[in-house]
Amino acid sequence: MSTSNAGRLAGRTALITGATGYLGTFMSRALAREGAHVRVNARRLDAAQALVAEIEAEGGKASPAVFDVRDARAVEAFAGELEARGEALHILINNAAAGRGGTLETASDQDYADAYDIAVVAAQRLMRVLLPALRRGRAELGDAAILNVSSMYGLVSPDLRSYDAPEASNPPFYGAAKAALVQLTRYGACQLGPEGIRCNAIAPGAFPSPATQQSAPDMVERLRARVPLGRIGEGGEIAGPVVFLCSPEASYITGAVLCVDGGWTAW
Ligand SMILES: NC(=O)c1ccc[n+]([C@@H]2O[C@H](COP(=O)([O-])OP(=O)(O)OC[C@H]3O[C@@H](n4cnc5c(N)ncnc54)[C@H](OP(=O)(O)O)[C@@H]3O)[C@@H](O)[C@H]2O)c1
Repeated sequence: MSTSNAGRLAGRTALITGATGYLGTFMSRALAREGAHVRVNARRLDAAQALVAEIEAEGGKASPAVFDVRDARAVEAFAGELEARGEALHILINNAAAGRGGTLETASDQDYADAYDIAVVAAQRLMRVLLPALRRGRAELGDAAILNVSSMYGLVSPDLRSYDAPEASNPPFYGAAKAALVQLTRYGACQLGPEGIRCNAIAPGAFPSPATQQSAPDMVERLRARVPLGRIGEGGEIAGPVVFLCSPEASYITGAVLCVDGGWTAW
């Protein structure tokens, strides 16, 4: 059954970075189920094409958007293509992430620069370079939305005791960059609000991938035990909050950080 002409996001185009990763796949499929045309960003064409095919098989609309979010020229080329075709963007989701583990003691200066580059600099560049397309989206449908994917570790510190080894924990450069992304979100909300472009963040909690669940069951159990709801997040549970914040149902919400963490940050 085709779902692309119905739903809360019908007629909207959404770019999601890091779309083929664990949570990005759930987000992309959910946006498509709600009728959005999903521009699937990945660094590899084959990865983007595989998710596009999956979405199309479910009756949704998607197309690849292949670039490295850290590559300013590639991002500008993507924006230039939208410009040339006069295409609008209604939703931008800054979701891409990369990095390694570490602690305050072991993290290098470069680790901080790299984390900031992908979480903050790349997100800000996309927000700036795609602003004309977002303005067209807002003019077309009366709403445009940016969603930055932060983390509970942008709000609170990990408890190292939950992890198998300090190096296996979410490192301080990751948390610091994700905290900065929350603040960038607030600036975005205030500076773009007058134009009717909303800017929000989500802070996911413990959503270990199936691979991590298999390879580190004891750690996952310690994380689970720490969650007020008593379980880790299932990938699909990211979908509702993402769709909501990107949809007109959230038309009066901007500058917000929605924790999707089973209550982790409520302790
Ligand atoms: N899973 C969790 O428990 C959790 C918790 C809190 C927050 N989050 C946040 O949620 C988001 C998604 O997490 P996830 O678990 O789905 O991570 P993931 O599976 O590692 O996915 C991250 C995606 O980003 C892509 N990426 C990395 N560097 C890129 C670049 N330079 N340009 C474009 N794409 C790039 C990766 O693609 P490649 O295959 O090319 O590397 C991958 O598809 C991240 O922002 C993460 O920080 C996740």
